[in-house]
Amino acid sequence: MCGIVGYVGNSNCVPKLVKGLKTLEYRGYDSAGIAILKNEEIWVAKDKGRIHNLEDMIDYKDFVGTIGIAHTRWATHGIPSKNNAHPHMDQNKHFAVVHNGIIENYLELKEQLIMHGFSFQSETDTEVIPMLMEYYYQKDNDVFEAFKNTLNELKGSYAILIITPLLPNTILVAKKNSPLVVGKGNDGIYIASDIPAILEYTKDFFFLEDEEKAIINNDVTFYNEHFQEITKNAKYIDWEMDAIDKKGFEDYMLKEIHEQPEALGNTLNGIVGLDKAVRFVNFSLDKEYLEQLNHIYIVACGTAMHAGLVGKYSIEMLCRIPVDVEVASEFRYRNPIINANTLCIFISQSGETADTIAALKLARKRHAKTIAISNVFESSITREADHTIYTHAGPEIAVASTKAYISQVGLIVAFAVYMAEVLDKELELCHDIQKELLALPNYMEQIIENNEQYYELAKKIKNEHDLFYIGRGNDYYVAMEGSLKLKEISYIHSEAYPAGELKHGPIALVENGTFVFGIITDSNISEKTLSNLEEVKSRGANIILITNQNIKKEHVINIPNVHPILSPILSIIPLQFIAYFIAKEKGLDVDKPRNLAKSVTVE
Ligand code: AGP
Ligand code: GLU
Repeated sequence: MCGIVGYVGNSNCVPKLVKGLKTLEYRGYDSAGIAILKNEEIWVAKDKGRIHNLEDMIDYKDFVGTIGIAHTRWATHGIPSKNNAHPHMDQNKHFAVVHNGIIENYLELKEQLIMHGFSFQSETDTEVIPMLMEYYYQKDNDVFEAFKNTLNELKGSYAILIITPLLPNTILVAKKNSPLVVGKGNDGIYIASDIPAILEYTKDFFFLEDEEKAIINNDVTFYNEHFQEITKNAKYIDWEMDAIDKKGFEDYMLKEIHEQPEALGNTLNGIVGLDKAVRFVNFSLDKEYLEQLNHIYIVACGTAMHAGLVGKYSIEMLCRIPVDVEVASEFRYRNPIINANTLCIFISQSGETADTIAALKLARKRHAKTIAISNVFESSITREADHTIYTHAGPEIAVASTKAYISQVGLIVAFAVYMAEVLDKELELCHDIQKELLALPNYMEQIIENNEQYYELAKKIKNEHDLFYIGRGNDYYVAMEGSLKLKEISYIHSEAYPAGELKHGPIALVENGTFVFGIITDSNISEKTLSNLEEVKSRGANIILITNQNIKKEHVINIPNVHPILSPILSIIPLQFIAYFIAKEKGLDVDKPRNLAKSVTVE
């Protein structure tokens, strides 16, 4: 949630901060603001709405400085408004703060500060931070002591940047459970929530660990949780700027849908080959370990959880080990049965999802082996897990996940094949799946090229209020993902059901003209799902069938035939396009849907 950028150096910070915010806008977009130091004072520009509102209100001739901090917000406490927008300041205008996360004890702190005579301007939890800084500064007259004391008071999660005219060339930085990177450029030092915001200036990044701090002026000094100075090494990130460009596409989501064949290919490169078993670099599990496993959990949120469901299907089919897939926010609070014989896999595109990270910490505490699947190098989840396997989808900017999902599915299937091969199970099937995995990018291209038909369909559906998606097995898991895509970006209500479950209640909602998507990619169960589609058709539903089987229906979207373990990688693509075109037809902002943010760093 929210994007933070900071700069201190010898150039004007304002255009850099605005540009950085625009790159981070996918992280939160209900208000934005900048604070700079000029003439030994804090100058602030902030407003409700998107970054372009902020841009319009800035007087670029006057609002100039060489040190500044900026924020694009996803509100957790207080409505999106100018008053609640960051940066926040204390009443003496000594400290300006931007914050990503939640200060859980803010009410308690606020009450105490009010008793000490402080008065608050916003409804946010964040505002206690500048107030505490000022409170402690008044006590000791020492900014660093105030910083230490303030951090000691805060419970919750934060990435914080603070500027103050009391130290006119310094940014104070702290991180706990919210991401933050620091990069040294030629003309100054940059800080951001995520790499793309400052990739233009450097490719060498310092990643802050939880509870580490940094004091940044013409150099960076890092501190550990006890405020002892530490040495950190920069890591080289080999991303190109064009990875975060729209490359001529109208939206990031459309670009990312088109990038899916490449994302899958890059993810599997080096892992899956025809001449050998599936292999992971720097990571292996031995047969004895796999044989003593009693259970596997796959834990994630949203789309990543849907990818996990395909993982369950593949691991159970190939390895015959029981797998449960759980939403991280449930798993972490329900005292799951985990021990050293349990393997826990956590999937997260961003690697920063608060609930998924907390679930991972719980599994580690209970001595399970933990594996993270993430798309973001060095993200928090990768630093917590015993092992990390990366999807190489490249930066995913659109809030609705597409290429990361496909890459997660490809990777977890490859992982299932890997385990089966170590266990000496289903070797022939494993070999076939390896072959098909390598052929998938070509099949995906075919579906993508054919996208005109999805547009025509979208035009028919765009005014609907309720849709259904049904399927069995992996087809049901794709139905769930297709339904989520539609809800997220088109704001049309839809439900995904196991095909056989519809008649146990929800079929009551089907009426004349209701659109029902059926997905059928497994010949063993196609007859069953077909009968369920007939049941809704008899009640007036409009059926759209996505299938790799030779089935005649009024509206069929044909996709290439692959093993049912792999079919989600193909069957989801038409559903992504349909959701996208419906949202476009409705004139909606597909990349930044209402109420959402790309990375959910609060629980
Ligand atoms: C995907 O379209 C959604 N925006 C959302 O469900 C997302 O998948 C979820 O928040 C998990 O994010 P993560 O993969 O970064 O952990
Ligand atoms: N909790 C803070 C607020 O609501 C920060 C939210 C964010 O991370 O954007 O203002």
